[in-house]
Formats: sequence, structure tokens, C-alpha cells
Amino acid sequence: MSYDDPLTQTDFAAFRPNAEVVRYLELTRERLGLRRDQMNVLDWGSGRGEYVAWLRDAGYNAFGAEIRQEAADRGKELLEARGHDYARVITTIPATGETDLPADFFHFVFTHYVLEHVADIDAVTKEIARVTAPGGCGFHVYPGKLRPIEPHLFMPFVHWLPKNPTRKWAIAACLACGIEPRWGWLAAAGFGSKAQAYYDFVMNETFYRTFREVRHSFSKVGFVVTPVSAEHPALRRLAVLPSALRKFAVELPVMMFQTVEIIVRKPQVSRL
Ligand SMILES: C[S@@+](CC[C@H](N)C(=O)[O-])C[C@H]1O[C@@H](n2cnc3c(N)ncnc32)[C@H](O)[C@@H]1O
Repeated sequence: MSYDDPLTQTDFAAFRPNAEVVRYLELTRERLGLRRDQMNVLDWGSGRGEYVAWLRDAGYNAFGAEIRQEAADRGKELLEARGHDYARVITTIPATGETDLPADFFHFVFTHYVLEHVADIDAVTKEIARVTAPGGCGFHVYPGKLRPIEPHLFMPFVHWLPKNPTRKWAIAACLACGIEPRWGWLAAAGFGSKAQAYYDFVMNETFYRTFREVRHSFSKVGFVVTPVSAEHPALRRLAVLPSALRKFAVELPVMMFQTVEIIVRKPQVSRL
């Protein structure tokens, strides 16, 4: 299975949502006192629509927004086979970033491994702020900027290098050592074509940012941003540490070198 293939019933049967997405969605629903079918949920960067199908099957009023029409179309057949109206539940995001989704509508908006692919983050946070209901929340999970292994290419440190041809030399060196993601569509390609394709991908489709940069973008449009990486179940046993130590010895390194998880909340009375 690859994200470049249509989403099949077999893929979907194996799909498990990120438990933190579901946990924060449920916490928001309980806080707002809504039934699942009253809970308007938006998956921003929905790809083939696995989350939308899963959430709708579970009774939420879920929608997806995706910038690449061809990625969204790979989930059309599966969504329709499960009784969901693809044209109504999936929106294509135009190049301006401004969708025709209703303002102040969504109680919960999440991104799952999307923000590291977003070229213009201010356009995204502005649109997410517009469509989020006052009092609503968002959960965003993306790789830390200094993760030692580039999570798409599995190559160490290549994304730490400046966005210039030095990256291509680093990618070629990894490739020569047999380190590569082995994307299906490149299976028959030679060394030079593969190095070029991996280089084009990291140059044009990845935009790693620090937590501060992402927080700044969400804060500017009125969200209150709370990092929750240290609340992840795998780290919860460290909750016994004094909070200052936990922040510096756990939260900051996790957000820099592993995964950033944040909750953003739109105040009841918007500051926009
Ligand atoms: C790694 S995929 C994740 C897909 C899905 N969220 C998941 O977890 O399976 C990243 C997705 O983000 C989309 N994307 C990139 N830039 C975007 C933007 N500015 N707005 C919305 N989606 C975007 C890509 O087209 C791609 O489908």
C-alpha cells in the first residue's frame, strides 16, 4: 500500500487513527456538551480521506480539506462505498488557501502530519481560524524540525542542511549506502533520477518549522496555543517530574527532536 494508490477496503480495514487525535476530539466534545453527530470536525490535509471515513463511520459530522485534488480523489470510491457523499464531505483547497467552507462552523480542526508539508503556514492558520467555531479547538501533530532521521526519506540529517544543492550530495551519499524510502513509482529509476526525485521532494514538499514559528502563526490569528507533546501516553510516566524540569528535560527535546503535538483554542469571543 502507498499513499499514491487508491484507498482500498483492505487498506481501510487496517487503518487505525492516531489515538491522540481521537482523545483530544473527545475531550473537546465533552467540554462543549455535544453529541457525536453534532460535532463538526475538519481534517485539514485529509489526503485519501481515511480519517474522514473513519470519523463519519463513528458518527461524527466529519469533513476533509485537501490541497491536492489527485490525493483526495484516491479516496472517492471508498468514501462512496461506505455511504459518504464525497463531493459534500471533501473540499479541495485552492492555491489561495481560501476555501468555501462555512465560517465559525467546526468544533474541532486537526492536522495529522500535514504542517511539515505546508509552504505558506500563515495562509493555513488564517483559514483554520476562520472556519473554527468560537470555543472550538484544534490538534496538530507534525515532526520536530531537528528529528535526526528525515521521516519521509529515512535518511539521517539531510533536512538539517540548507535548502541548496548540498542536500542533493547528502541524499546521493545516503542512496549510495542503500538508505532510501523505495517509493514504488521510482522502482525502475536509475541512481541519478532517484537522487533528483528525493531532492525535489525535500526541496519542494517539506517545510520544517520550530514550535515557536508554528505557535506564532496560530497566535497571530487569535488562537491560544498549548504544547501537549509531553502529555503523550508514552511520556506520561514522567509526569512525576517537577514541571520546570519536565518542560526543559522532556518537552523541549521531544518537540525539537521527535514530534510536536499542540492544542489550539479559539476564544469564545474571537480576538480577530
Ligand atoms: C503526509 S500526508 C498526510 C495525509 C493525512 N493527514 C494522513 O495523516 O494520512 C500530507 C498531506 O497534506 C497535504 N497538504 C500539503 N500542503 C497542504 C496545505 N497547504 N493545505 C492542506 N493540505 C496540504 C498533502 O497534499 C498531503 O495529502
